[in-house]
Amino acid sequence: MTDVQLPAFPMTRTCPHQPPEGYAALRENGPLAQVRLVGDRTAWVVTDHDVARTLLVDPRLSSDRLRPDFPVLVPRMSAAKLVPLVGMDPPVHTQRRRMLIAAFTVHRTQQMRPEIEEIVSARLDAVLQEGPPVDLVPTLALPVPSTVICRLLGVPYADHDFFESQTQRMVLGSSTAQEAAGAAAALTEYVDTLIGEKQTKPGEGLLDELIASHLDTGQITRRDLAETVMFLLVAGHETTANMITMSIVGLLENPEQLDRLRSDWSLLPNAVEELLRYLSVADEIQRVVAEPIEVAGHVLRVGDAVYLPAAASNRDPAAFPDPDALDVSRRARHHLAFGYGIHQCLGQNLARAELEVTLRALFERLPTLALAEPLSSLPVKPGGSVQGVYRLPVTW
Ligand code: HEM
Repeated sequence: MTDVQLPAFPMTRTCPHQPPEGYAALRENGPLAQVRLVGDRTAWVVTDHDVARTLLVDPRLSSDRLRPDFPVLVPRMSAAKLVPLVGMDPPVHTQRRRMLIAAFTVHRTQQMRPEIEEIVSARLDAVLQEGPPVDLVPTLALPVPSTVICRLLGVPYADHDFFESQTQRMVLGSSTAQEAAGAAAALTEYVDTLIGEKQTKPGEGLLDELIASHLDTGQITRRDLAETVMFLLVAGHETTANMITMSIVGLLENPEQLDRLRSDWSLLPNAVEELLRYLSVADEIQRVVAEPIEVAGHVLRVGDAVYLPAAASNRDPAAFPDPDALDVSRRARHHLAFGYGIHQCLGQNLARAELEVTLRALFERLPTLALAEPLSSLPVKPGGSVQGVYRLPVTW
Protein backbone atom coordinates (compact mmCIF):
# COMPACT_ATOMS: atom_id res chain seq x y z
CA MET A 1 0.00 0.00 0.00
CA THR A 2 1.43 3.41 -0.90
CA ASP A 3 1.16 6.24 1.57
CA VAL A 4 -1.43 8.03 -0.50
CA GLN A 5 -3.83 5.09 -0.06
CA LEU A 6 -3.57 5.23 3.71
CA PRO A 7 -6.65 6.59 5.46
CA ALA A 8 -6.49 10.27 6.37
CA PHE A 9 -6.26 11.13 10.07
CA PRO A 10 -7.76 12.65 12.21
CA MET A 11 -11.21 11.36 11.37
CA THR A 12 -14.46 13.17 12.19
CA ARG A 13 -17.37 11.45 13.89
CA THR A 14 -20.62 11.02 12.00
CA CYS A 15 -22.59 10.38 15.19
CA PRO A 16 -21.23 12.43 18.12
CA HIS A 17 -21.41 9.56 20.60
CA GLN A 18 -19.76 6.96 18.36
CA PRO A 19 -16.11 6.79 17.26
CA PRO A 20 -15.43 7.87 13.66
CA GLU A 21 -16.63 5.17 11.27
CA GLY A 22 -13.08 4.71 9.95
CA TYR A 23 -11.87 3.35 13.31
CA ALA A 24 -13.42 -0.06 12.50
CA ALA A 25 -11.10 -0.54 9.51
CA LEU A 26 -8.13 0.69 11.58
CA ARG A 27 -8.96 -1.95 14.20
CA GLU A 28 -9.05 -4.64 11.50
CA ASN A 29 -5.53 -3.59 10.49
CA GLY A 30 -4.49 -3.28 14.13
CA PRO A 31 -3.28 -3.37 16.79
CA LEU A 32 -1.22 -0.63 15.14
CA ALA A 33 -2.54 0.71 11.83
CA GLN A 34 -0.91 3.26 9.57
CA VAL A 35 -2.63 6.52 8.63
CA ARG A 36 -1.79 9.67 6.71
CA LEU A 37 -1.58 13.05 8.44
CA VAL A 38 -1.87 16.50 6.93
CA GLY A 39 1.21 17.12 4.74
CA ASP A 40 1.33 13.40 3.84
CA ARG A 41 3.28 12.36 6.91
CA THR A 42 2.41 8.82 8.01
CA ALA A 43 1.56 7.90 11.60
CA TRP A 44 0.68 4.87 13.69
CA VAL A 45 -2.74 4.61 15.30
CA VAL A 46 -3.07 2.22 18.23
CA THR A 47 -6.49 0.57 18.49
CA ASP A 48 -5.69 -2.12 21.08
CA HIS A 49 -6.26 -1.33 24.75
CA ASP A 50 -3.35 -3.46 26.02
CA VAL A 51 -0.88 -2.09 23.49
CA ALA A 52 -2.05 1.48 24.24
CA ARG A 53 -1.42 0.97 27.97
CA THR A 54 2.00 -0.57 27.30
CA LEU A 55 3.03 2.34 25.09
CA LEU A 56 1.63 5.06 27.36
CA VAL A 57 4.04 4.03 30.14
CA ASP A 58 7.02 3.60 27.79
CA PRO A 59 9.56 6.42 28.32
CA ARG A 60 10.83 5.90 24.76
CA LEU A 61 7.71 7.73 23.57
CA SER A 62 7.97 11.49 23.96
CA SER A 63 5.26 14.08 24.58
CA ASP A 64 7.60 17.01 23.95
CA ARG A 65 5.78 19.27 21.50
CA LEU A 66 8.90 21.41 21.10
CA ARG A 67 10.72 18.55 19.35
CA PRO A 68 11.00 19.42 15.66
CA ASP A 69 9.75 15.92 14.78
CA PHE A 70 6.62 16.15 16.92
CA PRO A 71 3.69 15.43 14.57
CA VAL A 72 1.11 18.01 13.57
CA LEU A 73 -2.37 16.51 13.75
CA VAL A 74 -4.29 19.58 12.59
CA PRO A 75 -2.92 22.97 11.42
CA ARG A 76 -3.72 24.67 14.75
CA MET A 77 -1.01 22.54 16.38
CA SER A 78 1.79 23.82 14.15
CA ALA A 79 1.79 27.30 15.70
CA ALA A 80 1.17 27.11 19.45
CA LYS A 81 3.99 24.64 20.00
CA LEU A 82 4.55 25.00 23.71
CA VAL A 83 1.96 22.97 25.56
CA PRO A 84 2.57 22.92 29.32
CA LEU A 85 2.37 19.60 31.20
CA VAL A 86 0.79 17.37 28.58
CA GLY A 87 3.33 18.53 25.98
CA MET A 88 6.41 18.06 28.18
CA ASP A 89 8.70 15.18 29.14
CA PRO A 90 10.45 14.57 32.48
CA PRO A 91 12.22 16.11 34.30
CA VAL A 92 10.40 19.41 33.66
CA HIS A 93 7.03 17.66 33.43
CA THR A 94 7.64 15.96 36.80
CA GLN A 95 8.45 19.28 38.50
CA ARG A 96 5.38 21.03 37.10
CA ARG A 97 3.03 18.18 37.92
CA ARG A 98 4.42 17.89 41.47
CA MET A 99 3.71 21.58 42.01
CA LEU A 100 0.01 21.04 41.21
CA ILE A 101 -0.85 17.58 42.46
CA ALA A 102 -2.05 18.55 45.96
CA ALA A 103 -4.80 20.75 44.52
CA PHE A 104 -6.35 17.87 42.57
CA THR A 105 -6.47 14.99 45.06
CA VAL A 106 -9.71 13.09 45.80
CA HIS A 107 -9.77 14.79 49.21
CA ARG A 108 -9.49 18.34 47.83
CA THR A 109 -12.16 17.54 45.26
CA GLN A 110 -14.49 16.23 47.96
CA GLN A 111 -14.07 19.52 49.79
CA MET A 112 -15.27 21.33 46.66
CA ARG A 113 -18.35 19.16 46.24
CA PRO A 114 -20.83 21.36 48.17
CA GLU A 115 -19.65 24.31 46.08
CA ILE A 116 -20.13 22.31 42.86
CA GLU A 117 -23.66 21.40 44.04
CA GLU A 118 -24.48 25.07 44.60
CA ILE A 119 -23.13 26.06 41.19
CA VAL A 120 -25.15 23.34 39.44
CA SER A 121 -28.30 24.14 41.39
CA ALA A 122 -28.12 27.84 40.50
CA ARG A 123 -27.60 26.98 36.83
CA LEU A 124 -30.60 24.66 36.83
CA ASP A 125 -32.75 27.35 38.45
CA ALA A 126 -31.88 29.57 35.50
CA VAL A 127 -32.55 26.79 32.98
CA LEU A 128 -36.01 26.17 34.47
CA GLN A 129 -36.77 29.85 34.41
CA GLU A 130 -35.68 30.27 30.80
CA GLY A 131 -37.15 27.26 29.05
CA PRO A 132 -38.17 25.15 27.34
CA PRO A 133 -36.60 24.93 24.78
CA VAL A 134 -33.14 25.66 26.17
CA ASP A 135 -29.66 25.11 24.79
CA LEU A 136 -27.86 23.28 27.59
CA VAL A 137 -24.35 24.11 26.34
CA PRO A 138 -24.24 27.83 27.31
CA THR A 139 -26.66 27.43 30.24
CA LEU A 140 -25.25 24.36 32.01
CA ALA A 141 -22.53 22.25 30.39
CA LEU A 142 -20.09 25.13 29.85
CA PRO A 143 -20.72 27.43 32.85
CA VAL A 144 -20.51 24.62 35.43
CA PRO A 145 -16.88 23.59 34.70
CA SER A 146 -15.90 27.20 33.90
CA THR A 147 -17.16 28.41 37.27
CA VAL A 148 -15.56 25.47 39.08
CA ILE A 149 -12.11 25.95 37.53
CA CYS A 150 -12.31 29.73 38.14
CA ARG A 151 -13.03 29.15 41.84
CA LEU A 152 -10.27 26.56 42.10
CA LEU A 153 -7.67 28.75 40.42
CA GLY A 154 -8.83 32.11 41.78
CA VAL A 155 -9.64 33.47 38.29
CA PRO A 156 -12.60 35.91 38.04
CA TYR A 157 -15.58 34.19 36.39
CA ALA A 158 -16.62 37.61 35.10
CA ASP A 159 -13.95 37.11 32.40
CA HIS A 160 -15.50 33.87 31.14
CA ASP A 161 -16.67 35.22 27.77
CA PHE A 162 -13.08 36.13 26.99
CA PHE A 163 -11.39 32.92 28.07
CA GLU A 164 -14.11 30.61 26.72
CA SER A 165 -14.04 32.19 23.25
CA GLN A 166 -10.23 32.23 23.14
CA THR A 167 -10.22 28.58 24.20
CA GLN A 168 -12.45 27.71 21.25
CA ARG A 169 -10.03 29.44 18.88
CA MET A 170 -7.15 27.57 20.48
CA VAL A 171 -8.55 24.05 20.55
CA LEU A 172 -11.07 23.56 17.75
CA GLY A 173 -9.75 21.27 15.04
CA SER A 174 -10.92 23.77 12.41
CA SER A 175 -8.81 26.68 13.73
CA THR A 176 -5.90 27.95 11.68
CA ALA A 177 -2.36 28.05 13.06
CA GLN A 178 -2.57 31.86 13.39
CA GLU A 179 -5.89 31.73 15.27
CA ALA A 180 -4.59 29.10 17.69
CA ALA A 181 -1.30 30.90 18.30
CA GLY A 182 -3.07 34.24 18.82
CA ALA A 183 -5.50 32.72 21.26
CA ALA A 184 -2.77 30.93 23.26
CA ALA A 185 -0.82 34.21 23.47
CA ALA A 186 -3.92 36.19 24.53
CA LEU A 187 -4.79 33.67 27.24
CA THR A 188 -1.23 33.56 28.57
CA GLU A 189 -1.13 37.36 28.59
CA TYR A 190 -4.43 37.37 30.50
CA VAL A 191 -3.06 35.06 33.22
CA ASP A 192 0.17 37.07 33.34
CA THR A 193 -1.80 40.27 34.01
CA LEU A 194 -3.73 38.45 36.72
CA ILE A 195 -0.45 37.36 38.34
CA GLY A 196 0.66 41.01 38.44
CA GLU A 197 -2.63 42.05 40.08
CA LYS A 198 -2.50 39.24 42.60
CA GLN A 199 1.08 40.08 43.56
CA THR A 200 -0.10 43.48 44.77
CA LYS A 201 -3.48 42.30 46.04
CA PRO A 202 -3.46 38.58 46.88
CA GLY A 203 -6.74 36.67 46.78
CA GLU A 204 -7.77 33.06 47.25
CA GLY A 205 -7.13 30.15 44.92
CA LEU A 206 -4.47 27.90 43.46
CA LEU A 207 -2.87 30.73 41.44
CA ASP A 208 -2.42 32.78 44.63
CA GLU A 209 -0.96 29.74 46.40
CA LEU A 210 1.47 29.12 43.52
CA ILE A 211 2.57 32.77 43.47
CA ALA A 212 3.47 32.51 47.16
CA SER A 213 4.98 29.02 47.12
CA HIS A 214 6.74 28.94 43.75
CA LEU A 215 6.98 32.36 42.04
CA ASP A 216 7.98 34.45 45.05
CA THR A 217 10.52 31.78 46.06
CA GLY A 218 12.09 31.71 42.61
CA GLN A 219 11.13 28.10 41.85
CA ILE A 220 9.30 29.03 38.66
CA THR A 221 9.47 31.98 36.27
CA ARG A 222 6.44 34.23 35.83
CA ARG A 223 6.19 33.16 32.18
CA ASP A 224 6.18 29.43 33.05
CA LEU A 225 3.59 29.97 35.77
CA ALA A 226 1.34 31.97 33.42
CA GLU A 227 1.56 29.24 30.77
CA THR A 228 0.87 26.44 33.23
CA VAL A 229 -2.17 28.15 34.74
CA MET A 230 -3.43 29.09 31.28
CA PHE A 231 -3.39 25.40 30.41
CA LEU A 232 -5.27 24.49 33.60
CA LEU A 233 -7.91 27.09 32.81
CA VAL A 234 -8.39 25.68 29.30
CA ALA A 235 -8.18 21.96 30.19
CA GLY A 236 -10.33 22.52 33.24
CA HIS A 237 -13.40 23.69 31.37
CA GLU A 238 -13.27 22.61 27.73
CA THR A 239 -13.04 18.82 28.16
CA THR A 240 -15.55 18.67 31.00
CA ALA A 241 -18.05 20.88 29.15
CA ASN A 242 -18.01 18.48 26.20
CA MET A 243 -18.24 15.50 28.51
CA ILE A 244 -21.29 16.92 30.34
CA THR A 245 -22.97 17.71 27.00
CA MET A 246 -22.23 14.30 25.55
CA SER A 247 -23.21 12.41 28.72
CA ILE A 248 -26.66 13.99 28.49
CA VAL A 249 -26.84 12.93 24.83
CA GLY A 250 -25.56 9.42 25.63
CA LEU A 251 -28.18 8.88 28.33
CA LEU A 252 -31.05 10.36 26.33
CA GLU A 253 -30.12 8.13 23.39
CA ASN A 254 -30.08 5.07 25.69
CA PRO A 255 -33.29 5.56 27.70
CA GLU A 256 -33.22 2.08 29.28
CA GLN A 257 -29.80 2.92 30.78
CA LEU A 258 -31.09 6.28 31.99
CA ASP A 259 -34.03 4.49 33.63
CA ARG A 260 -31.69 2.07 35.40
CA LEU A 261 -29.70 4.98 36.73
CA ARG A 262 -32.78 6.87 37.84
CA SER A 263 -34.11 3.88 39.72
CA ASP A 264 -30.78 3.37 41.54
CA TRP A 265 -28.59 6.45 41.90
CA SER A 266 -25.94 4.36 43.68
CA LEU A 267 -24.95 3.32 40.13
CA LEU A 268 -23.92 6.89 39.35
CA PRO A 269 -20.12 6.71 39.92
CA ASN A 270 -20.04 3.53 37.84
CA ALA A 271 -22.23 5.11 35.16
CA VAL A 272 -19.85 8.08 34.94
CA GLU A 273 -16.90 5.74 34.28
CA GLU A 274 -18.92 3.98 31.60
CA LEU A 275 -19.90 7.29 30.00
CA LEU A 276 -16.25 8.36 30.02
CA ARG A 277 -15.33 5.11 28.25
CA TYR A 278 -18.23 5.12 25.82
CA LEU A 279 -17.92 8.77 24.81
CA SER A 280 -14.11 9.20 24.94
CA VAL A 281 -14.35 12.90 24.16
CA ALA A 282 -10.60 13.64 24.46
CA ASP A 283 -9.46 11.54 21.56
CA GLU A 284 -6.14 13.09 20.58
CA ILE A 285 -3.54 11.37 22.75
CA GLN A 286 -0.35 11.77 20.75
CA ARG A 287 3.35 10.99 21.05
CA VAL A 288 6.54 10.79 18.98
CA VAL A 289 9.07 7.93 19.12
CA ALA A 290 12.27 9.12 20.85
CA GLU A 291 14.04 5.73 20.85
CA PRO A 292 13.22 2.66 18.70
CA ILE A 293 10.47 0.43 20.11
CA GLU A 294 9.39 -3.06 19.09
CA VAL A 295 5.76 -3.63 19.84
CA ALA A 296 3.10 -6.04 18.60
CA GLY A 297 5.27 -7.20 15.69
CA HIS A 298 6.12 -3.68 14.51
CA VAL A 299 9.26 -1.60 14.79
CA LEU A 300 8.57 2.04 15.62
CA ARG A 301 11.44 4.24 14.47
CA VAL A 302 12.72 7.47 15.98
CA GLY A 303 10.52 10.32 14.74
CA ASP A 304 7.50 8.10 14.03
CA ALA A 305 4.21 9.72 15.03
CA VAL A 306 1.99 7.64 17.33
CA TYR A 307 -1.69 8.32 18.10
CA LEU A 308 -3.51 6.47 20.86
CA PRO A 309 -7.13 7.59 20.47
CA ALA A 310 -9.15 6.79 23.56
CA ALA A 311 -12.23 6.19 21.40
CA ALA A 312 -10.37 3.29 19.76
CA SER A 313 -8.85 1.60 22.83
CA ASN A 314 -12.04 2.13 24.85
CA ARG A 315 -14.04 0.21 22.24
CA ASP A 316 -11.60 -2.72 22.13
CA PRO A 317 -13.77 -5.86 22.56
CA ALA A 318 -10.91 -7.68 24.28
CA ALA A 319 -10.96 -5.13 27.10
CA PHE A 320 -14.70 -4.30 27.10
CA PRO A 321 -17.06 -7.07 25.95
CA ASP A 322 -19.83 -5.75 23.70
CA PRO A 323 -17.94 -2.43 23.58
CA ASP A 324 -20.48 -0.47 21.53
CA ALA A 325 -23.20 -0.88 24.16
CA LEU A 326 -23.60 1.74 26.88
CA ASP A 327 -24.07 -0.28 30.08
CA VAL A 328 -24.19 1.74 33.31
CA SER A 329 -23.43 -1.35 35.40
CA ARG A 330 -20.29 -2.28 33.43
CA ARG A 331 -16.95 -2.24 35.30
CA ALA A 332 -15.19 0.27 33.07
CA ARG A 333 -12.68 1.87 35.40
CA HIS A 334 -9.70 0.66 33.31
CA HIS A 335 -10.81 2.90 30.41
CA LEU A 336 -8.26 5.27 28.89
CA ALA A 337 -10.53 8.33 28.61
CA PHE A 338 -8.19 10.19 31.00
CA GLY A 339 -5.08 8.75 29.36
CA TYR A 340 -2.63 6.54 31.25
CA GLY A 341 0.88 6.80 32.70
CA ILE A 342 2.67 9.96 33.76
CA HIS A 343 0.34 12.29 31.86
CA GLN A 344 -2.88 10.74 33.13
CA CYS A 345 -5.42 13.53 33.59
CA LEU A 346 -4.64 15.70 36.59
CA GLY A 347 -8.23 16.93 36.81
CA GLN A 348 -9.95 13.54 36.68
CA ASN A 349 -11.33 13.61 40.23
CA LEU A 350 -12.72 17.06 39.67
CA ALA A 351 -14.26 16.04 36.34
CA ARG A 352 -15.90 12.98 37.94
CA ALA A 353 -17.40 15.12 40.70
CA GLU A 354 -18.75 17.67 38.22
CA LEU A 355 -20.27 14.93 36.08
CA GLU A 356 -21.89 13.16 39.01
CA VAL A 357 -23.39 16.31 40.50
CA THR A 358 -24.60 17.74 37.19
CA LEU A 359 -26.15 14.57 35.78
CA ARG A 360 -28.01 13.66 38.95
CA ALA A 361 -29.38 17.15 39.54
CA LEU A 362 -30.38 17.57 35.89
CA PHE A 363 -32.30 14.31 35.55
CA GLU A 364 -33.90 14.66 38.99
CA ARG A 365 -35.12 18.18 38.38
CA LEU A 366 -36.11 17.65 34.74
CA PRO A 367 -37.42 14.06 34.66
CA THR A 368 -39.05 14.49 31.24
CA LEU A 369 -35.93 15.93 29.58
CA ALA A 370 -35.70 15.22 25.82
CA LEU A 371 -33.76 16.53 22.82
CA ALA A 372 -35.65 19.39 21.17
CA GLU A 373 -34.12 18.64 17.76
CA PRO A 374 -33.00 15.36 16.20
CA LEU A 375 -29.42 14.53 17.16
CA SER A 376 -28.55 14.09 13.48
CA SER A 377 -29.28 17.80 12.90
CA LEU A 378 -26.68 18.97 15.44
CA PRO A 379 -23.27 19.72 13.90
CA VAL A 380 -20.44 17.61 15.32
CA LYS A 381 -17.03 19.08 16.27
CA PRO A 382 -14.29 18.19 13.78
CA GLY A 383 -11.58 15.57 14.39
CA GLY A 384 -8.60 17.08 16.22
CA SER A 385 -10.88 18.81 18.77
CA VAL A 386 -12.34 17.60 22.03
CA GLN A 387 -15.36 15.73 20.70
CA GLY A 388 -18.92 16.92 21.09
CA VAL A 389 -21.67 19.10 19.65
CA TYR A 390 -21.76 22.90 19.62
CA ARG A 391 -25.30 23.16 20.99
CA LEU A 392 -27.74 20.92 22.83
CA PRO A 393 -31.34 22.13 22.49
CA VAL A 394 -33.61 20.32 24.95
CA THR A 395 -37.19 20.43 26.06
CA TRP A 396 -39.18 18.93 28.99
C1 HEM B 1 -4.45 15.35 30.76
C2 HEM B 1 -8.90 14.00 29.42
C3 HEM B 1 -10.83 17.12 32.62
C4 HEM B 1 -6.43 18.88 33.48
C5 HEM B 1 -5.50 14.68 30.17
C6 HEM B 1 -5.35 13.57 29.25
C7 HEM B 1 -6.60 13.21 28.87
C8 HEM B 1 -7.54 14.07 29.55
C9 HEM B 1 -6.96 12.11 27.87
C10 HEM B 1 -4.03 12.90 28.85
C11 HEM B 1 -3.51 13.39 27.54
C12 HEM B 1 -2.22 12.70 27.12
O1 HEM B 1 -1.71 11.79 27.77
O2 HEM B 1 -1.68 13.11 26.08
C13 HEM B 1 -9.81 14.73 30.19
C14 HEM B 1 -11.24 14.54 30.16
C15 HEM B 1 -11.78 15.42 31.06
C16 HEM B 1 -10.69 16.16 31.65
C17 HEM B 1 -11.99 13.53 29.28
C18 HEM B 1 -13.22 15.66 31.45
C19 HEM B 1 -14.13 14.73 31.50
C20 HEM B 1 -9.82 17.86 33.16
C21 HEM B 1 -9.97 18.86 34.18
C22 HEM B 1 -8.74 19.38 34.41
C23 HEM B 1 -7.79 18.68 33.54
C24 HEM B 1 -11.28 19.26 34.88
C25 HEM B 1 -8.45 20.44 35.44
C26 HEM B 1 -7.55 21.32 35.40
C27 HEM B 1 -5.53 18.08 32.81
C28 HEM B 1 -4.10 18.26 32.86
C29 HEM B 1 -3.53 17.26 32.06
C30 HEM B 1 -4.63 16.47 31.56
C31 HEM B 1 -3.37 19.35 33.62
C32 HEM B 1 -2.05 17.04 31.77
C33 HEM B 1 -1.45 16.15 32.81
C34 HEM B 1 0.00 15.85 32.58
O3 HEM B 1 0.52 15.97 31.47
O4 HEM B 1 0.66 15.49 33.56
N1 HEM B 1 -6.84 14.95 30.35
N2 HEM B 1 -9.51 15.72 31.08
N3 HEM B 1 -8.50 17.77 32.81
N4 HEM B 1 -5.81 16.99 32.03
FE1 HEM B 1 -7.66 16.29 31.65
